[in-house]
Amino acid sequence: MLADKRILLIIGGGIAAYKALDLIRRLQDRGAHVIPVLTRAGEQFVTPLSVSALAGTAVHRDLFDLTSEAEMGHIQLSRSADLVVVVPATADLMGKMAQGLANDLASTLLLATDTPVLVAPAMNVRMWQHPATRRNVETLTADGVSFVGPTEGRMACGEFGPGRLAEVEDIVAAISAKLSEGPLLGKRILVTSGPTHEPIDPVRYIANRSSGAQGAAMARALRDLGAEVVFITGPASVRPPEGVQVVMVETAAQMSQAVEAALPVVAGVFAAAVSDWRVVNASDRKLKKSKDGLPVMQFAENPDILKRVSQMGKGRPQLVVGFAAETNDVIENATAKRLRKGCDWIVANDVSPATGIMGGSENAVVLISDQGAEVWPRMSKDSVARQLAERMAAALAQ
Ligand code: CTP
Repeated sequence: MLADKRILLIIGGGIAAYKALDLIRRLQDRGAHVIPVLTRAGEQFVTPLSVSALAGTAVHRDLFDLTSEAEMGHIQLSRSADLVVVVPATADLMGKMAQGLANDLASTLLLATDTPVLVAPAMNVRMWQHPATRRNVETLTADGVSFVGPTEGRMACGEFGPGRLAEVEDIVAAISAKLSEGPLLGKRILVTSGPTHEPIDPVRYIANRSSGAQGAAMARALRDLGAEVVFITGPASVRPPEGVQVVMVETAAQMSQAVEAALPVVAGVFAAAVSDWRVVNASDRKLKKSKDGLPVMQFAENPDILKRVSQMGKGRPQLVVGFAAETNDVIENATAKRLRKGCDWIVANDVSPATGIMGGSENAVVLISDQGAEVWPRMSKDSVARQLAERMAAALAQ
């Protein structure tokens, strides 16, 4: 819920501006008070009348508006909210923000504010990928600005790729996360997720059937309780959640490095299905069928990320949660695994094909801790994640 939260919504000039109208509605449904600001370019896409009618309040448009200045100066306006949200954030607006320009109402508010800022970019693929935009995103991130999206898809200009405005519900989730007052507020938690790919040659790899669904659900549930989530994911088939810091990796070695880089954290959830082995003699050329027989692959063991973090001594997260994918003797194997790895909890599940769990939307887990094994009923992966996140919040509060 966003009851009584004040959100200053800056609507930029892009075709996706119409989605800002839907966003106003959804934020109000959650009890938020939306103060709309429309840029000159934004007015080309949505009218001031529709914005103010939906918001139920006047829309701010001019830097030198005498009435507005007399009633509430732009400096005060920029600080009157709990969060400033820019939807859609155009390349131009982000450029101004990164440069500290203030030549219209929106850019002046963004420069004058002392409130957290969340931007939802939307622009043509090439514009998003242009080095200038890349630099601006980097600068804004370093300045503490949060991002939601863009996502990939077909765009109004007919091109395909990253640059689409995030879905409105994801923008709402990111706003809720920024304003969350949940029990994990301000706690940094890392989540690993998805499979890893271990190359055999440039076109082939070893992988597993993990979809990344349980890891993504964990990241969303922790985010919804207010945690600052670092989500380190292998090539999963589900989309990474919005409102979390996403680090994409391919191999176990890269995942291990990304985890090191994310430390310190108060808690770690290791939901990734990490490949136990990599091919040490992976070829840098595509392997060809040859008369000399079949290729011979040599394997080496990958770093055990969970074990390393669990046993790191100084700087160890307060709570380390592993997952155990088993196909038989689930409780016995997972109990032994908890001790072997040195983690605090193991969430064990039976992934034998008959259960339909791997790649499916449901999970039946056993939570193993120093208190023994607790069998949970079969439920959706989202419910498992929510309950686990609540248990983690309770454990971290002690
Ligand atoms: N894990 C990890 N790094 C690895 C292997 C596993 O961090 N190289 C983590 C997984 O993310 C999971 C837990 O360890 O949280 C258990 O993974 P699982 O594949 O069930 O266990 P393994 O260690 O691979 O043991 P085994 O293959 O013997 O079942």
